Amino acid sequence: MNLQINTSRIRCFLVTVASYGVLILGWDTALGGTLPVLRIDTKKVIARVGPLHAGLMTEEINHAFDGGLYGELVANSALNAEVQPKAGRFGPWSLVGKREEADGLALDAGHPLNGATPVALRIEAASAAKGRSVGVANSGFWGIPLRPNTRYRLSFYAKAANDFKGPLSASLERADGSSISTSAAVTVAPGPWKRYGAVLITPSDIEPIASGRLTIATEQAGTFWVTRVSLFPPTWADRPNGNRIDLMQKLAALRPKFLRFPGGGYLNGASVETRFDWKNTLGPVTERPGHPSPWGYWSSDGMGYLEFLLWCEDLGMEPVVGVWAGSAVVQAGEVLQPFVQEALDEIEYATGNTTSPWGARRARDGHPAPFKLRYVEIGNEEITPDYDARFAQFYDAIKAKYPTIQIIAAGQIKDTGSRPGDMDYRKSAQVSSRVPDVLDEHFYQTAKDAFAEVSRFDRYDRKGPKIFVGEWATMEGVPVTPNMLAALGDGAWMIGMERNADVVIMQAYAPLFANINAGASQWQTNLIGYDSLHSYGSPSYYAQVLFNTYRGDEVLSTPVSIAPNFFTSATRDSDSGRIYIKAVNASGTVQPVRVELPGSSKLEPEGKEIVLSGPPESTNSILEPRKIVPVERSLQDVKAVFEHSFVAHSVTVLELSASPVGN
Ligand code: AHR
Repeated sequence: MNLQINTSRIRCFLVTVASYGVLILGWDTALGGTLPVLRIDTKKVIARVGPLHAGLMTEEINHAFDGGLYGELVANSALNAEVQPKAGRFGPWSLVGKREEADGLALDAGHPLNGATPVALRIEAASAAKGRSVGVANSGFWGIPLRPNTRYRLSFYAKAANDFKGPLSASLERADGSSISTSAAVTVAPGPWKRYGAVLITPSDIEPIASGRLTIATEQAGTFWVTRVSLFPPTWADRPNGNRIDLMQKLAALRPKFLRFPGGGYLNGASVETRFDWKNTLGPVTERPGHPSPWGYWSSDGMGYLEFLLWCEDLGMEPVVGVWAGSAVVQAGEVLQPFVQEALDEIEYATGNTTSPWGARRARDGHPAPFKLRYVEIGNEEITPDYDARFAQFYDAIKAKYPTIQIIAAGQIKDTGSRPGDMDYRKSAQVSSRVPDVLDEHFYQTAKDAFAEVSRFDRYDRKGPKIFVGEWATMEGVPVTPNMLAALGDGAWMIGMERNADVVIMQAYAPLFANINAGASQWQTNLIGYDSLHSYGSPSYYAQVLFNTYRGDEVLSTPVSIAPNFFTSATRDSDSGRIYIKAVNASGTVQPVRVELPGSSKLEPEGKEIVLSGPPESTNSILEPRKIVPVERSLQDVKAVFEHSFVAHSVTVLELSASPVGN
C-alpha cells in the first residue's frame, strides 16, 4: 500500500488491490467533486516506443491464405488427393451439363503434368452438342466472388483425346449456371499438356455475388483433361499471384511495422514432413506440391516464402522469419544440422546478393534486390527441455554467418483463454546456454486476465532479453471474431505493452484472419473475418487501428489506473509535440476524469477524441461490419487542467495538439 497526501489540494493517491489486480486510485476535491486525477508528467519520458512496436503475425489457419488473403479463387487447383476425401470426391469441382451416363468426371493419374501435379481431371463430354455444353465447374473457396466490371485472369493446362476437336469455353457463372461474364474460347489439341490463358470480364450492371463459379465446358462431344486451373481477380499492387485487395486495405490501416511468419503451428507442422518446407514453396505455383496444414486442411503453398516477403514489401513491414527448429521431433546434434543449414539458406534467399546460390535463386524467382531481414525466430512455442540445445545450435550457426541478425527464442506461453485444453502457464525450457536477443512470449487470455495483467511488464527485468509478444489476444466473443469485451481487454493489454515499450519492443495479435464460412475456421477469436466477397474488422481490430494510428514515440509518466476498471497510457510524438492519451473504460458507467498536464506548454484549445464503444457482448459481422467502429469528435477547451468524461465500455484516444518539446 502506497499513500500520498498533498494537503494543499486535498489530493490522495492510493494503491490498492481489487478483483482486477493492482489499481491506483486518485481523486481530487479541488474542483468541488471527487474526480479521479489523470496526471500526465510531460517532463518525464518513461520509455521510448521503438519503430517496430506493433506488427502482424500470420499463418495458414482458418483459411487465412487459401480462401483468404491469397488471391487465387480456384480451390484445389492441384487436385490434391488429400483434399478429395474431406470435401467430397472432387472437392469444389463438379461435372456440369451431364445428360447421359457416359458423361463423366474422374481424377486421372495417367497424365501427370509434373512431379507436383500427379493427377488431372478427365472430363468425358459424351453428350456435348451445339447448345448443350458439358464440362467442369469450380466453386472456389465457399464461392467465387464476382464483382461488376472486373477483369479476372484465367489460366489452366489442358489436353485433348485423339477424338476431340474442341474448342473449350471458359466463363464465370452464378451458382445456378447462368453466365455472368464474357467467355473465352480456346482450341485444345491432342498431344502434350499446353497452358492456356484468357481474361474474363464481368458486366458493369451486375450486383456483386459471393457464390459464383468458373466453368470450362465444350459443345463438342469428346474427352479432355484439365489441371492447375487458376483464376485471379485484380490484386493489391497488381501483383501476379498476389493478394486480395480488401484484406490488404484492412492490414494497411493497422500500420503494421513487421510481419511474423509463417507461424505458429503452421511453421512446425505435425511432423518433419509437414513443416513449412520453404524450398518447396518457391517457383511457379504449378510446380509447388503443397502440404497439409496442421490445422486440418491442405495448403496450396501459393502463398510461399517469396510471397510472404513481397507482402512485407507491399506494406512496408520488416519480415520476422520463423525457421523450423526441430520442433521436438529432431534433437540437437548431427541430425539437426541439415535443418540448421535449411535456415541459413532461408536467410540467404532473403538477404544474399545475386552471386550467392540462394540470392541467385531469388533473382531467378523475380526479385534480384535483397530484402532487409533483421529478426529470425528459432521455432515456435518450443516447450520441451531439449530446446536449449537446439536453440544453441541454430544461434551459433546463424550468428557466425550473420552476426547482426537478432535471434528470437520461442519462449513462454500463457493461455487462460477459453479455448479447449486451457494450458495456463507453460514455461518453455529455459534458454540458458545462450542469451537470446529477444524472447517471444504468447498470451491468450480472458478480458478479466488482461485487466489484471495490465502491469505485468512493469515487473520485467530491464537487464533481461527484450520481449516480443509474438501472439496475443483477448478471447471473448462468439466464433469467429471477438466482441467489444475482447476489445476492452485488448485495449488494456496494449496499454500495458505500450507503457513498457522499452521491454516489449514488438507485439502482434493472433490469429489475424478467419474465413467465416461453416467449417472454414479452427480458432475461436480472430482479428479480421471474411467470406469470399466481404470482410470486416472486429472491435479488437479497431482497437488496434486506434492504438497504431495514435502511437507516439515517447511514453509519458501517468498512473496506469485511477479508477476501477479504468486504464490509461499517454504518449507523445516527439516531432509534432502531439500528446495521445489512451484510456480503456471497462466499466458500465461513464468515467469523469480530471486531466492534468503539468509542464506542458502551448496546448491548443481544440483537440480530438476518438472513441470505440459498445455493449461488451456486441460485435461486428459480415452483415453488420461497422456496428462498432471508432467515432471521432472534436475536443474543446483543452488546457493544462481540464475535465473529460470517458464513455462506458470504451477504448478512447484523446489527441492533444502541443508544440514539440523545446519550442
Ligand atoms: O494462433 C494460433 C496458435 O496459437 C498458433 O499457431 C500457436 O503458436 C499458438 O498456440
